[in-house]
Amino acid sequence: MISFSAPGKIHLLGEHAVVYGKPAVLAAIDLRVHVKISPSRHADLNKESDSLKKIIEPIVKKELKIKKIPPYDLKILSEIPVGSGLGSSAAVSSAYIAAILSFLNVKWNLELVNNLAYEAEKVFHGNPSGADNFVVVYGGVVWFHKQTEPVKLSSQIKQFMLIDSGKPVESTKEMVEKVRIKLQESRIEVQKIFDDQERLVKELVVALKDGNQNQLISIIRQGEKNLESLGVVGRKAQNIIRLVEKTGGVAKISGAGGVKSGSGMLLCYHPHPKTLLSFTKTHYLPTLSIALGEKGLLLCR
Ligand code: PMV
Repeated sequence: MISFSAPGKIHLLGEHAVVYGKPAVLAAIDLRVHVKISPSRHADLNKESDSLKKIIEPIVKKELKIKKIPPYDLKILSEIPVGSGLGSSAAVSSAYIAAILSFLNVKWNLELVNNLAYEAEKVFHGNPSGADNFVVVYGGVVWFHKQTEPVKLSSQIKQFMLIDSGKPVESTKEMVEKVRIKLQESRIEVQKIFDDQERLVKELVVALKDGNQNQLISIIRQGEKNLESLGVVGRKAQNIIRLVEKTGGVAKISGAGGVKSGSGMLLCYHPHPKTLLSFTKTHYLPTLSIALGEKGLLLCR
Protein backbone atom coordinates (compact mmCIF):
# COMPACT_ATOMS: atom_id res chain seq x y z
CA MET A 1 0.00 0.00 0.00
CA ILE A 2 1.15 3.52 -0.81
CA SER A 3 0.09 6.37 1.45
CA PHE A 4 0.61 10.12 1.23
CA SER A 5 -0.71 13.00 3.26
CA ALA A 6 -0.97 16.71 2.49
CA PRO A 7 -2.04 19.64 4.66
CA GLY A 8 -4.84 22.14 4.24
CA LYS A 9 -3.92 25.81 3.97
CA ILE A 10 -5.11 29.22 5.00
CA HIS A 11 -4.67 32.54 3.24
CA LEU A 12 -3.19 34.96 5.74
CA LEU A 13 -3.74 37.71 3.19
CA GLY A 14 -3.69 38.47 -0.53
CA GLU A 15 -6.42 36.14 -1.84
CA HIS A 16 -8.09 37.34 -5.06
CA ALA A 17 -5.40 40.03 -5.57
CA VAL A 18 -2.94 37.14 -6.10
CA VAL A 19 -4.87 36.11 -9.23
CA TYR A 20 -3.90 39.52 -10.71
CA GLY A 21 -0.19 39.28 -9.93
CA LYS A 22 -0.16 40.70 -6.40
CA PRO A 23 1.64 38.86 -3.58
CA ALA A 24 -0.13 36.70 -0.99
CA VAL A 25 0.94 35.02 2.23
CA LEU A 26 -0.38 31.53 2.84
CA ALA A 27 0.39 28.82 5.38
CA ALA A 28 0.01 25.06 5.59
CA ILE A 29 -2.07 24.06 8.63
CA ASP A 30 -2.29 21.03 10.90
CA LEU A 31 -5.39 19.52 9.28
CA ARG A 32 -4.44 16.87 6.72
CA VAL A 33 -5.83 14.61 4.06
CA HIS A 34 -4.53 11.03 3.77
CA VAL A 35 -4.66 9.22 0.44
CA LYS A 36 -3.97 5.50 0.20
CA ILE A 37 -3.61 3.44 -2.95
CA SER A 38 -3.28 -0.32 -3.07
CA PRO A 39 -3.07 -2.62 -6.09
CA SER A 40 -6.34 -4.34 -6.92
CA ARG A 41 -7.42 -7.04 -9.31
CA HIS A 42 -10.58 -5.17 -10.24
CA ALA A 43 -11.40 -1.56 -11.04
CA ASP A 44 -12.34 0.39 -7.88
CA LEU A 45 -16.12 0.55 -7.48
CA ASN A 46 -16.00 3.35 -4.93
CA LYS A 47 -18.32 5.90 -6.51
CA GLU A 48 -17.33 8.68 -4.08
CA SER A 49 -13.85 9.04 -5.55
CA ASP A 50 -15.05 8.63 -9.15
CA SER A 51 -15.21 12.34 -10.01
CA LEU A 52 -11.76 12.92 -8.53
CA LYS A 53 -10.32 10.01 -10.54
CA LYS A 54 -11.81 11.50 -13.70
CA ILE A 55 -9.84 14.68 -13.09
CA ILE A 56 -6.53 13.30 -11.80
CA GLU A 57 -5.98 10.23 -13.97
CA PRO A 58 -6.02 12.06 -17.36
CA ILE A 59 -3.51 14.61 -15.99
CA VAL A 60 -1.14 11.84 -14.89
CA LYS A 61 -1.63 9.86 -18.13
CA LYS A 62 -0.91 12.95 -20.24
CA GLU A 63 2.24 13.75 -18.26
CA LEU A 64 3.58 10.19 -18.45
CA LYS A 65 2.33 9.66 -22.01
CA ILE A 66 0.57 6.42 -21.04
CA LYS A 67 -2.86 5.14 -22.01
CA LYS A 68 -3.74 2.96 -19.03
CA ILE A 69 -3.26 2.83 -15.27
CA PRO A 70 -3.52 -0.63 -13.67
CA PRO A 71 -6.53 -1.09 -11.33
CA TYR A 72 -6.14 0.11 -7.75
CA ASP A 73 -8.17 0.80 -4.61
CA LEU A 74 -8.28 4.40 -3.51
CA LYS A 75 -8.98 5.49 0.07
CA ILE A 76 -9.26 9.10 1.11
CA LEU A 77 -9.49 10.21 4.73
CA SER A 78 -9.67 13.93 5.31
CA GLU A 79 -9.67 16.25 8.30
CA ILE A 80 -9.98 19.28 5.99
CA PRO A 81 -13.49 20.71 5.63
CA VAL A 82 -14.44 20.74 1.95
CA GLY A 83 -15.35 23.97 0.13
CA SER A 84 -14.49 26.24 3.04
CA GLY A 85 -11.35 27.98 1.79
CA LEU A 86 -8.92 25.54 3.40
CA GLY A 87 -7.38 24.18 0.21
CA SER A 88 -9.06 20.80 0.39
CA SER A 89 -9.01 20.28 -3.41
CA ALA A 90 -5.31 21.15 -3.69
CA ALA A 91 -4.43 18.89 -0.74
CA VAL A 92 -6.33 15.85 -2.00
CA SER A 93 -5.03 16.35 -5.57
CA SER A 94 -1.39 16.53 -4.49
CA ALA A 95 -1.56 13.52 -2.18
CA TYR A 96 -3.43 11.51 -4.83
CA ILE A 97 -1.02 12.51 -7.63
CA ALA A 98 2.01 11.56 -5.51
CA ALA A 99 0.37 8.24 -4.63
CA ILE A 100 -0.41 7.39 -8.29
CA LEU A 101 3.12 8.32 -9.40
CA SER A 102 4.58 6.05 -6.71
CA PHE A 103 2.10 3.30 -7.59
CA LEU A 104 3.35 3.51 -11.19
CA ASN A 105 6.97 3.43 -9.96
CA VAL A 106 7.62 6.86 -11.41
CA LYS A 107 10.38 8.86 -9.80
CA TRP A 108 8.47 11.82 -8.37
CA ASN A 109 9.57 15.03 -6.76
CA LEU A 110 7.73 17.96 -5.20
CA GLU A 111 8.09 20.07 -8.32
CA LEU A 112 6.39 17.46 -10.51
CA VAL A 113 3.55 16.94 -8.00
CA ASN A 114 3.10 20.70 -7.67
CA ASN A 115 2.91 21.16 -11.46
CA LEU A 116 0.35 18.38 -11.88
CA ALA A 117 -1.68 19.56 -8.88
CA TYR A 118 -1.78 22.98 -10.56
CA GLU A 119 -3.30 21.33 -13.65
CA ALA A 120 -5.94 19.76 -11.39
CA GLU A 121 -6.63 23.13 -9.75
CA LYS A 122 -7.30 24.55 -13.22
CA VAL A 123 -10.02 21.95 -13.68
CA PHE A 124 -11.48 22.70 -10.23
CA HIS A 125 -11.19 26.50 -10.26
CA GLY A 126 -10.74 27.76 -13.84
CA ASN A 127 -8.07 30.43 -13.38
CA PRO A 128 -6.16 29.57 -10.19
CA SER A 129 -3.11 31.51 -9.05
CA GLY A 130 -1.25 28.29 -8.17
CA ALA A 131 -0.82 29.45 -4.57
CA ASP A 132 -2.94 26.72 -2.95
CA ASN A 133 -1.16 23.80 -4.60
CA PHE A 134 2.26 25.33 -3.89
CA VAL A 135 1.69 25.73 -0.16
CA VAL A 136 0.13 22.30 0.37
CA VAL A 137 2.99 20.61 -1.51
CA TYR A 138 5.90 22.54 0.02
CA GLY A 139 4.36 23.37 3.44
CA GLY A 140 5.44 26.17 5.79
CA VAL A 141 4.46 29.82 5.57
CA VAL A 142 4.86 31.09 2.03
CA TRP A 143 5.11 34.39 0.18
CA PHE A 144 3.48 33.63 -3.15
CA HIS A 145 3.62 35.73 -6.29
CA LYS A 146 2.63 34.45 -9.74
CA GLN A 147 5.60 35.94 -11.58
CA THR A 148 8.42 35.18 -9.14
CA GLU A 149 9.69 32.18 -7.18
CA PRO A 150 7.70 31.67 -3.93
CA VAL A 151 9.66 32.33 -0.73
CA LYS A 152 9.38 30.47 2.59
CA LEU A 153 8.81 32.87 5.49
CA SER A 154 9.50 32.61 9.17
CA SER A 155 6.70 33.32 11.61
CA GLN A 156 6.82 33.66 15.36
CA ILE A 157 3.03 33.72 15.46
CA LYS A 158 1.63 30.27 14.79
CA GLN A 159 -1.57 29.76 16.77
CA PHE A 160 -4.78 30.88 15.12
CA MET A 161 -8.42 29.92 15.35
CA LEU A 162 -10.95 29.09 12.67
CA ILE A 163 -14.62 30.00 13.04
CA ASP A 164 -17.06 28.41 10.63
CA SER A 165 -19.24 31.07 8.99
CA GLY A 166 -20.99 28.39 6.93
CA LYS A 167 -20.17 26.73 3.65
CA PRO A 168 -20.32 29.12 0.69
CA VAL A 169 -22.86 28.19 -1.98
CA GLU A 170 -20.60 29.75 -4.61
CA SER A 171 -17.56 27.89 -5.90
CA THR A 172 -14.07 29.44 -5.94
CA LYS A 173 -14.48 29.70 -9.71
CA GLU A 174 -17.66 31.78 -9.29
CA MET A 175 -16.08 34.07 -6.69
CA VAL A 176 -13.02 34.66 -8.87
CA GLU A 177 -15.37 35.47 -11.75
CA LYS A 178 -17.32 37.90 -9.53
CA VAL A 179 -14.10 39.80 -8.79
CA ARG A 180 -13.18 39.79 -12.49
CA ILE A 181 -16.50 41.43 -13.36
CA LYS A 182 -16.05 44.01 -10.57
CA LEU A 183 -12.57 44.76 -11.87
CA GLN A 184 -14.00 45.35 -15.36
CA GLU A 185 -16.73 47.62 -14.03
CA SER A 186 -14.72 49.60 -11.46
CA ARG A 187 -11.09 49.24 -12.50
CA ILE A 188 -9.67 52.15 -10.48
CA GLU A 189 -11.47 51.21 -7.25
CA VAL A 190 -10.50 47.53 -7.44
CA GLN A 191 -6.91 48.30 -8.45
CA LYS A 192 -6.68 50.53 -5.35
CA ILE A 193 -7.87 47.65 -3.16
CA PHE A 194 -5.31 45.30 -4.74
CA ASP A 195 -2.52 47.86 -4.22
CA ASP A 196 -3.52 48.25 -0.57
CA GLN A 197 -3.57 44.47 -0.07
CA GLU A 198 -0.04 44.37 -1.51
CA ARG A 199 1.12 46.99 1.02
CA LEU A 200 -0.50 45.02 3.86
CA VAL A 201 0.99 41.71 2.69
CA LYS A 202 4.46 43.28 2.77
CA GLU A 203 3.84 44.61 6.30
CA LEU A 204 2.52 41.20 7.33
CA VAL A 205 5.80 39.52 6.45
CA VAL A 206 7.59 41.75 8.96
CA ALA A 207 4.90 41.39 11.64
CA LEU A 208 5.07 37.57 11.44
CA LYS A 209 8.86 37.52 11.52
CA ASP A 210 9.00 39.88 14.53
CA GLY A 211 6.04 38.28 16.29
CA ASN A 212 4.39 41.70 16.43
CA GLN A 213 0.81 40.94 17.58
CA ASN A 214 -0.50 44.51 17.45
CA GLN A 215 0.78 44.94 13.92
CA LEU A 216 -0.75 41.60 12.89
CA ILE A 217 -4.12 42.57 14.35
CA SER A 218 -4.13 45.89 12.53
CA ILE A 219 -3.11 44.28 9.20
CA ILE A 220 -5.78 41.58 9.36
CA ARG A 221 -8.46 44.13 10.24
CA GLN A 222 -7.53 46.34 7.26
CA GLY A 223 -7.14 43.36 4.93
CA GLU A 224 -10.60 42.07 5.83
CA LYS A 225 -12.12 45.52 5.20
CA ASN A 226 -10.56 45.47 1.73
CA LEU A 227 -12.03 42.01 1.06
CA GLU A 228 -15.44 43.34 2.11
CA SER A 229 -15.05 46.27 -0.31
CA LEU A 230 -14.17 43.75 -3.00
CA GLY A 231 -17.57 42.15 -2.38
CA VAL A 232 -16.49 38.64 -1.40
CA VAL A 233 -17.65 38.56 2.24
CA GLY A 234 -21.26 37.68 3.10
CA ARG A 235 -23.46 39.34 5.75
CA LYS A 236 -23.25 36.46 8.20
CA ALA A 237 -19.45 36.42 8.12
CA GLN A 238 -19.29 40.22 8.45
CA ASN A 239 -21.50 40.07 11.54
CA ILE A 240 -19.30 37.42 13.18
CA ILE A 241 -16.16 39.38 12.29
CA ARG A 242 -17.52 42.62 13.83
CA LEU A 243 -18.34 40.72 17.04
CA VAL A 244 -14.86 39.16 17.17
CA GLU A 245 -13.37 42.65 16.74
CA LYS A 246 -15.46 43.87 19.70
CA THR A 247 -13.81 41.23 21.91
CA GLY A 248 -10.36 42.57 20.95
CA GLY A 249 -9.55 40.04 18.25
CA VAL A 250 -9.60 40.04 14.46
CA ALA A 251 -11.00 37.76 11.80
CA LYS A 252 -11.08 37.53 8.03
CA ILE A 253 -12.25 35.20 5.32
CA SER A 254 -9.56 32.86 4.06
CA GLY A 255 -9.67 32.15 0.35
CA ALA A 256 -12.42 32.85 -2.14
CA GLY A 257 -15.20 33.73 0.34
CA GLY A 258 -18.91 33.71 -0.50
CA VAL A 259 -21.78 36.17 -0.30
CA LYS A 260 -25.10 34.39 -0.79
CA SER A 261 -24.81 32.29 2.38
CA GLY A 262 -21.67 31.43 4.36
CA SER A 263 -18.17 32.68 3.51
CA GLY A 264 -16.26 29.59 4.63
CA MET A 265 -13.84 29.36 7.53
CA LEU A 266 -12.84 32.64 9.14
CA LEU A 267 -9.23 32.97 10.17
CA CYS A 268 -9.18 34.55 13.64
CA TYR A 269 -6.46 35.87 15.86
CA HIS A 270 -6.87 37.00 19.43
CA PRO A 271 -4.18 38.09 21.89
CA HIS A 272 -6.16 36.15 24.53
CA PRO A 273 -7.43 32.96 22.85
CA LYS A 274 -9.58 32.09 25.89
CA THR A 275 -11.65 35.25 25.34
CA LEU A 276 -12.26 34.20 21.74
CA LEU A 277 -13.20 30.67 22.81
CA SER A 278 -15.74 31.86 25.34
CA PHE A 279 -17.18 34.21 22.69
CA THR A 280 -17.61 31.36 20.17
CA LYS A 281 -19.15 29.15 22.87
CA THR A 282 -21.69 31.81 23.84
CA HIS A 283 -22.66 32.25 20.19
CA TYR A 284 -22.63 28.51 19.40
CA LEU A 285 -20.06 29.03 16.63
CA PRO A 286 -18.10 25.95 15.50
CA THR A 287 -14.42 26.64 16.19
CA LEU A 288 -11.10 24.92 15.49
CA SER A 289 -7.64 25.75 16.83
CA ILE A 290 -4.96 25.52 14.17
CA ALA A 291 -1.20 25.81 13.94
CA LEU A 292 0.47 27.43 10.93
CA GLY A 293 3.61 26.43 9.07
CA GLU A 294 3.07 22.68 9.03
CA LYS A 295 4.87 20.20 6.76
CA GLY A 296 3.75 19.88 3.13
CA LEU A 297 3.30 16.65 1.17
CA LEU A 298 4.51 13.59 3.10
CA LEU A 299 5.05 9.99 2.18
CA CYS A 300 3.63 7.96 5.09
CA ARG A 301 5.48 4.78 5.96
O1 PMV B 1 -10.98 29.37 -1.40
P1 PMV B 1 -9.78 28.70 -1.97
O2 PMV B 1 -9.04 27.87 -1.00
O3 PMV B 1 -10.10 27.97 -3.22
O4 PMV B 1 -8.74 29.88 -2.35
C1 PMV B 1 -8.94 30.69 -3.46
C2 PMV B 1 -7.98 31.82 -3.46
C3 PMV B 1 -8.15 32.81 -4.62
O5 PMV B 1 -7.13 33.80 -4.48
C4 PMV B 1 -9.51 33.49 -4.56
C5 PMV B 1 -8.02 32.12 -5.97
C6 PMV B 1 -6.60 31.64 -6.30
O6 PMV B 1 -6.50 30.85 -7.24
O7 PMV B 1 -5.62 32.07 -5.68
